[in-house]
Amino acid sequence: MNLTNSQANYEKACQVLAGGVSSGIRMWADPILYFSHANGPYFYDVDGQEYIDYTLAWGPLILGSNHPSINAAVSAQIQKSYTLGAQHQLEIDLASKLVSILPGVDQMIFSNTGSEAVQAAIRIARATTGRTKIVKFEGHYHGWLNNILVSFHPPKEQLGTPSPTTQGQPESEYQDTLVLPWNDPEALKNLLETRGHEIACVITEPLLANSGSCVAQEGFLNTLVDSCRSAGVISIFDEVITGFRIALGGAREHFGLIPDLSVYAKAMAGGFTMGAVGGRKEMFDVLREGKAIHAGTYNGSSFNLAAALATVTTLQTESPYESMHQHGYAIRAKLEELAKQKGLPLITTGLGSVFSAHFGLTTAPLNYADTLEVDTDLYKRFRQSLLKRGIHPLPDGRWYISAVHTTKELDHTLDAIEKSFAEL
Ligand SMILES: Cc1ncc(COP(=O)(O)O)c(C=O)c1O
Repeated sequence: MNLTNSQANYEKACQVLAGGVSSGIRMWADPILYFSHANGPYFYDVDGQEYIDYTLAWGPLILGSNHPSINAAVSAQIQKSYTLGAQHQLEIDLASKLVSILPGVDQMIFSNTGSEAVQAAIRIARATTGRTKIVKFEGHYHGWLNNILVSFHPPKEQLGTPSPTTQGQPESEYQDTLVLPWNDPEALKNLLETRGHEIACVITEPLLANSGSCVAQEGFLNTLVDSCRSAGVISIFDEVITGFRIALGGAREHFGLIPDLSVYAKAMAGGFTMGAVGGRKEMFDVLREGKAIHAGTYNGSSFNLAAALATVTTLQTESPYESMHQHGYAIRAKLEELAKQKGLPLITTGLGSVFSAHFGLTTAPLNYADTLEVDTDLYKRFRQSLLKRGIHPLPDGRWYISAVHTTKELDHTLDAIEKSFAEL
């Protein structure tokens, strides 16, 4: 693998860009690559190497890169306006489309990122209930803000106690955040029964994509939605990853569950910057009545909305889910088969087009604590071997499949996996 230009770029970047990256989590990649362009399911580094993209920019690129329908929509829109800071037709068109697709969603609000949309959902929950505490689960990621970046990837000794993820995160800003282990219905029910009167909302990733793509155990999400309802607590599905990915209607459709609010971003706009919150009409009463505020200069920017409308319309028309999911399951089957042949412990977890590979585990992790036993060094070596062969999954063991990954890419990937296993 040639890293000459990537390394030179990284050195230059480190002089002018703090840490050499634009999002702190990207510092974890080894090697740090610089890219020149992307097309379909491929991206290209500055040393001229081509990769099949299984990162999809950490999820958004559900239609790959350079997709004709997004290009056409955005090109047409920028002739008319970039952003208006005022009302326009696309807001109605996109919200109408989303409301027609997302089960149990009557209304939407738009923001620019998932982090902002999460904050809006929390504010709505607090304003609606008049309560302050929020409940999240260990290992779940809901953006980088102080009140919610709590117990994201804590070390073993901090399990069970709300803990900061970064310096500069004062306790005063997360003292209202309560943390539970995921997939533990009893712990959740107990907390809601004893302290429900203090709790505004419970927020969950419906698939724990940010910590090993752990799958909810049968009945856990139902318990969450039902016990929240009984306790007058707002249930929030953070569908920033699952939305438009595990099904067109996301986790609501896949699990047949209707939480009070859902948060969307990433795949919704195919790589453009958008977040959204959806729910029943009355969930937004506090905004309509002016009791709570949600604002943002770029909310509803026209070119982002054009990209989102094109993305969601293409997903709806082409319904690529079956082939995306099969692509994921084929890779997982290959990984598990080769590991078995080699006598290496490995298990994969996830849902269709998003999954994680766990070296060192033989049973599926159910929550963040279970993922602490993963052999991250072995995965790192395996990933570096894949990179040499033009396959690019995320550094944390996660793989994303897009609608434009075809059997050609799958064949190449399975072959590279086989060769990389032989090299381990
Ligand atoms: C589940 C989940 N929620 C929220 C966020 C934050 O979204 P953004 O990075 O757009 O602010 C992310 C980002 O990875 C996410 O995975």
